[in-house]
Amino acid sequence: MVRLPLKGLDRDSLFERMQRYRQNDHPWREGRIFGYIFDVDEEVREVIRQAYTSFLTENALDPTVFPSLLEMEREVVAIAASHLQGDGEVVGNFTSGGTESIFLAVKAARDKFREENPHLTQIQMILPVTAHAAFHKAAHYLDVEAIVVPVDPRTFKADVEAMKDAITESTFLLVASAPSYSHGVIDPIEEIGQLALENNIYFHVDACIGGFLLPFWRKLGRDIPSFDFSVEGVSSISMDFHKYAYAAKGASVVLYRDKGLRKYQIFTCSHWTGYAMVNPTVQSSKSGGPLASCWALLNYLGEEGYLELSRKTLVATEKISQGIERIGGLYILGEPEMSLLAVASDEVNVFHIIDEMRARGWYIQPQFARGGGKENFHLSITAAHFSLVDPFLEDLEESVESARRLPPPEEVDLGELKVEDLDEVSMGAFLEMVGIREGRLPSRMAGIHQMLNSSSPELVEAFLRYFSNELYSL
Ligand SMILES: Cc1ncc(COP(=O)(O)O)c(C=O)c1O
Repeated sequence: MVRLPLKGLDRDSLFERMQRYRQNDHPWREGRIFGYIFDVDEEVREVIRQAYTSFLTENALDPTVFPSLLEMEREVVAIAASHLQGDGEVVGNFTSGGTESIFLAVKAARDKFREENPHLTQIQMILPVTAHAAFHKAAHYLDVEAIVVPVDPRTFKADVEAMKDAITESTFLLVASAPSYSHGVIDPIEEIGQLALENNIYFHVDACIGGFLLPFWRKLGRDIPSFDFSVEGVSSISMDFHKYAYAAKGASVVLYRDKGLRKYQIFTCSHWTGYAMVNPTVQSSKSGGPLASCWALLNYLGEEGYLELSRKTLVATEKISQGIERIGGLYILGEPEMSLLAVASDEVNVFHIIDEMRARGWYIQPQFARGGGKENFHLSITAAHFSLVDPFLEDLEESVESARRLPPPEEVDLGELKVEDLDEVSMGAFLEMVGIREGRLPSRMAGIHQMLNSSSPELVEAFLRYFSNELYSL
């Protein structure tokens, strides 16, 4: 049992120990990772770090006590609003990430719609199947129903007719992505905006991953369809700074077309014996670090700095896409409009490719066959990959060839296993069987990925819940 040490450790042994803990982390500084990490270089890291630590202790819970934070938040929100073609009416808040921004947008729309329609108890939001899992989480936490509709099986873009058909008097929100995480394509925002207007419902554009980058790609000559406040009918947008704005994690923004809708995001409480609470966001006490760090980086890099990073991302994406098309057996799903690729194969098992790449020091992410699609691997390409294109493609080609020679992954046969049959004992035995011991994953994951890919979403969810529950137990 780990306990608080009686005597504190000296600084050297503390940091030494943390360094030891780090030994098995993926070496992200080398850039050989295509998800989770958005990093520029040591110079930028130093700015982020310095700004973060200089506001580490300030508490953004009360902006009247720390007006510095209010000022920075107003400026960051204004930068985001003008970046997304908002007018002077657009308002918003700085949040801890895409999930929080999405939660708040769903809550604001839910509460305003409920006030306008008090007779409707069970209300619904319509999601294309490519919408981020954060919307399912929001539906779960906020007790609204998620109605999932298919996307076009070739382009992976939202099917506007399917969304239209799903609208009922209980629909309070339409959701679309600009672009989707899984396939990097932008949903038909203008058409969905029209649908929202015609039906007098709210429309959230999830630009968490793309909102910051896309306007720069447009400046660089890419044909980017309208996806922001320039589109009538868009009522709110989420955009993360901790992705393509390269801010320290804990940095996103939720924007509303006007204060009338944002008002419903804010929680206040005076029904207790302590301070009267005002929380515009989910967190209450929160460090000023992420906001200060984000503010500093936006101002440090500026338009020119970001344009250059976006150019590097664009060049890396084009070269990697062309390289992938040249490698026999691989192809890109849909026509990505950003630096997010889903790569599939009809000849080689993609989960073997992921393992082979892992053995060569690269992290790439599996995506399962869902929504009528095919299993694939995902790449979030960033400016850091600009100088890694050639070694990446060489290793990818080699990995495909090695994977081609391997027998199909040894899949665990789940038979007719159903979620209801699962219990602690069967789950424990199951983890052992697939080679997961003490929360440690086997070095080759193809068998597990293959099994998850062919299991029902409900079974995968139950399995992951059990796994996570074990993982966070000492
Ligand atoms: C399109 C999109 N929406 C939402 C999110 C969730 O963001 P976060 O992980 O910051 O909560 C992501 C994350 O990748 C995303 O790509």
